[in-house]
Amino acid sequence: MNEEKKKSIALVFGNTGGIGRSIFESLVSSKKYCKVFGLNRSYTPYIDVTNEDNIKELASNLIEKDLSIELLFNATGYLHDNSFSPEKKIQDINLHYMRKSFEINTYANALLIKHLAPLMKKESKSIFASLSARVGSISDNFLGGWYSYRASKAALNQIIKTASIEFKIKNKNLIFVAIHPGTVYTKLSKPFAGNKTLMSCDEAAKKILSVINNLTIEDSGYLIDYKNQKIQF
Ligand SMILES: NC(=O)c1ccc[n+]([C@@H]2O[C@H](COP(=O)([O-])OP(=O)(O)OC[C@H]3O[C@@H](n4cnc5c(N)ncnc54)[C@H](OP(=O)(O)O)[C@@H]3O)[C@@H](O)[C@H]2O)c1
Repeated sequence: MNEEKKKSIALVFGNTGGIGRSIFESLVSSKKYCKVFGLNRSYTPYIDVTNEDNIKELASNLIEKDLSIELLFNATGYLHDNSFSPEKKIQDINLHYMRKSFEINTYANALLIKHLAPLMKKESKSIFASLSARVGSISDNFLGGWYSYRASKAALNQIIKTASIEFKIKNKNLIFVAIHPGTVYTKLSKPFAGNKTLMSCDEAAKKILSVINNLTIEDSGYLIDYKNQKIQF
């Protein structure tokens, strides 16, 4: 089918999570896209973002249906689970935890770009956005700790930057961004919240979507926060 006639859709990975659910619901209510698909491990199609076959199959389905992606929003991520918490010191390094952090926070993004960036809309603006974190900024690291999470998000930022360079030629309208959502009250942040009042998921989603809506091609490759401020790598 002619590129112009393809239906534009939005994909939200991790819409079972705190921020992902709010982003998904806001996009659905905005009625901006022909269809918004939420992709997760709870409903069909089962998508584990670290499983290349799952992503490949999703890409084949989109090609078969002649759909082009106007917005891909990756809200998946990992910081802790029942077995692991972020490291306080180097002696806490555990390779299983470190690998899992990189698999979800970094490698998954490379797989999503590999299989889905070629399906992004070409004739006008399209956006590949992934939730990163300010703690992934090397120049902003004053506190130390959290080796695996920090390093996996720093590596994600590098992947976003590298893809933005490669796709300047392949798709001049495609913007890649890593987004710091702020400190938001979710399952991921709960154990570290203490007495602080954190942003709600709906509030964060509103701010993040305002950033997304105002992106231009000049923003491609950057880490940007929910206040629309670029964060130094
Ligand atoms: N909350 C904050 O304050 C904060 C701050 C900075 C950055 N971030 C980043 O924002 C993103 C979203 O975080 P959140 O706070 O909304 O966390 P959350 O509520 O724990 O959501 C995490 C999401 O990731 C999904 N996920 C994890 N591993 C997956 C896998 N292998 N395949 C598919 N889905 C997977 C989870 O799916 P299941 O439901 O299947 O587990 C869930 O939907 C993360 O990248 C996080 O690092 C959050």
